Amino acid sequence: MVSAPRCPPGARGLLALLLLLPLPGARGISCKPLELENGRVDLTDLRSGLKATFSCNEGYRLIGTTSALCKVARHSANWDRRLPLCQAIPCRPPPDITHGFHNALSGEKFSFGSKVTYKCDQGFSLIGVASIHCTTKDNITGEWSGSAPECKVGCQKPDMQNGNPLKALDEKMWYSVNETIPFKCSPGYQFSSHSHLPATDRSSITCLADGSWTALPKCTKQSTSGVCEMVPESREFTECGVPLEELRTLLEVRKLYLEIEKLKQELKSQ
Ligand SMILES: *[C@@H]1O[C@H](CO)[C@@H](O)[C@H](O)[C@H]1NC(C)=O
Ligand SMILES: *[C@@H]1O[C@H](CO)[C@@H](O)[C@H](O)[C@H]1NC(C)=O
Repeated sequence: MVSAPRCPPGARGLLALLLLLPLPGARGISCKPLELENGRVDLTDLRSGLKATFSCNEGYRLIGTTSALCKVARHSANWDRRLPLCQAIPCRPPPDITHGFHNALSGEKFSFGSKVTYKCDQGFSLIGVASIHCTTKDNITGEWSGSAPECKVGCQKPDMQNGNPLKALDEKMWYSVNETIPFKCSPGYQFSSHSHLPATDRSSITCLADGSWTALPKCTKQSTSGVCEMVPESREFTECGVPLEELRTLLEVRKLYLEIEKLKQELKSQ
């Protein structure tokens, strides 16, 4: 036997530890240590013997038993179960899409964490999320993080500031090639135009084959003179000898129209 006092300081703890461990031949026969690739083994010292519990790292699933007991016989010690396997959680091949492709190699295996990125053929626009990855909800089955994107010919909703499609039905997320939508600037705005051209608040854009729009007109704030156009108009009426009563009616109608416009604007900004 080793006599403890002869040990250098510090070594005593180590010695005690060694004596506690169930090494073969030291304290008796024990099972060989276990190692689980892509997982871990937790040992518990039960009254009846050593118990190993198996678990897998994230993205791996356990194939086989979740635990094993060390069975000690007279001259040998063996685990009562076979070591399980931690298998990378697989995903099905990513879906193929029309008018586009993904960057995976043919015959490639997909497992947890794998990522594929889609691209569209020339002239098509990608709708949705370009990349998806293999993930899992239950740590057993693999699934793609989302659905594959779509490749479509067409244009996305134009980014039009201070303007709207003339027809409410024209308001959508996606437009096909050659589709033309008439636009109208919000009240008080007009399309920027050359000084020699009459200012207008209407214009239209067409979706081109490459998925872009024809030059998007810009609605800019109208000068105040534009808003007050009806004032000189009413003077004209008096000058041309429009009866006062008729002018009054005209102005009432104009007022009503402006009030409706104002209301519409308020509703829109809510
Ligand atoms: C899946 O495994 C991860 C990490 O290994 C864990 O955080 C999560 O709770 C597990 N989910 C389920 C549903 O078991
Ligand atoms: C769009 O219009 C052009 C010119 O008129 C035509 O050549 C093309 O085929 C049209 N494309 C579609 C998708 O309708």
